[in-house]
Amino acid sequence: MKILHFKSELRFLLKEARIKRNKIGFVPTMGALHPGHISLIERAKSENDLVVCSIFVNPTQFDNPEDLKKYPRTLEQDCFLLQEAACDVVFAPSAQEMYPQLPELSINFGNLETVMEGAFRKGHFNGVGIVVAKLFHIVQPDNAYFGLKDLQQVAVLNRLVRDLDFDLNLIACPTKREIDGLAMSSRNVRLSKEARMIAPNIYKSLNMAKNALLAGKSSSEVKDDILLFYEDLPEFKLEYFEITDFENLQNIVDFRPGKKTALCVVAYLDGVRLIDNLVF
Ligand code: PAJ
Repeated sequence: MKILHFKSELRFLLKEARIKRNKIGFVPTMGALHPGHISLIERAKSENDLVVCSIFVNPTQFDNPEDLKKYPRTLEQDCFLLQEAACDVVFAPSAQEMYPQLPELSINFGNLETVMEGAFRKGHFNGVGIVVAKLFHIVQPDNAYFGLKDLQQVAVLNRLVRDLDFDLNLIACPTKREIDGLAMSSRNVRLSKEARMIAPNIYKSLNMAKNALLAGKSSSEVKDDILLFYEDLPEFKLEYFEITDFENLQNIVDFRPGKKTALCVVAYLDGVRLIDNLVF
């Protein structure tokens, strides 16, 4: 496995691979890898000749400087896991290498900016969009893999690929969970033992909501139920719970079974921002 820190080295290596007609799979990450990330590498491995994983904690997508500072950085351990998963190339650039100067361009994702992550994390998707566009230009993959755990990120990046004509397939992969249902996340290590014990209530709330909707309750009744559920668990600070259309992530006021629906939740626990969703 090659570990590269410079765009020029990576471009050189990938040019050679392209001449050999190797299919390139790409998994962008911010490191602190866990089995959720590794499941994307495995999927990429099974569908491509060469797999590139980038590890870059992208400062421009953090709206909270504390969160950026606290983001775990574990490059050595990450490389160990990637080697085990037979990843071919790790691209771990410095901030200076990625941003010799800060971009002045900004991207607006339309109605995806005004809901959920777009509304609560101002500028977040602009930062994601720009770094992923830069990485797509550097790697020029055939296939790029993203987790449905960040459902709105997938929607935003689908729009980026479509509107800017990136010549690649964006492949959305299922959320990997702990046995108790908690979605795997780099942030989970920041939970105290007590918080970790009750964290699966997030997934529980999503399942409760799904079952209630399918049993015929209205969207507003289900939303009220979920608010009550979190009121009974004062350790959680619910940021939002939304019942949305899977395609455009806009609110569904009038739920009808049969239409692909995404339930999306963000809650703080122990000061850690946890995000999850359920699609059905
Ligand atoms: P990061 O949070 O490191 O996630 C990298 C990829 O792993 C994303 O596509 C994310 O959705 C996926 N992922 C995270 N947890 C997962 C889980 N439990 N199951 C399946 N996939 C999971 O998302 C980012 O980094 C950044 O925004 C990035 C796209 C790299 C741009 O900086």
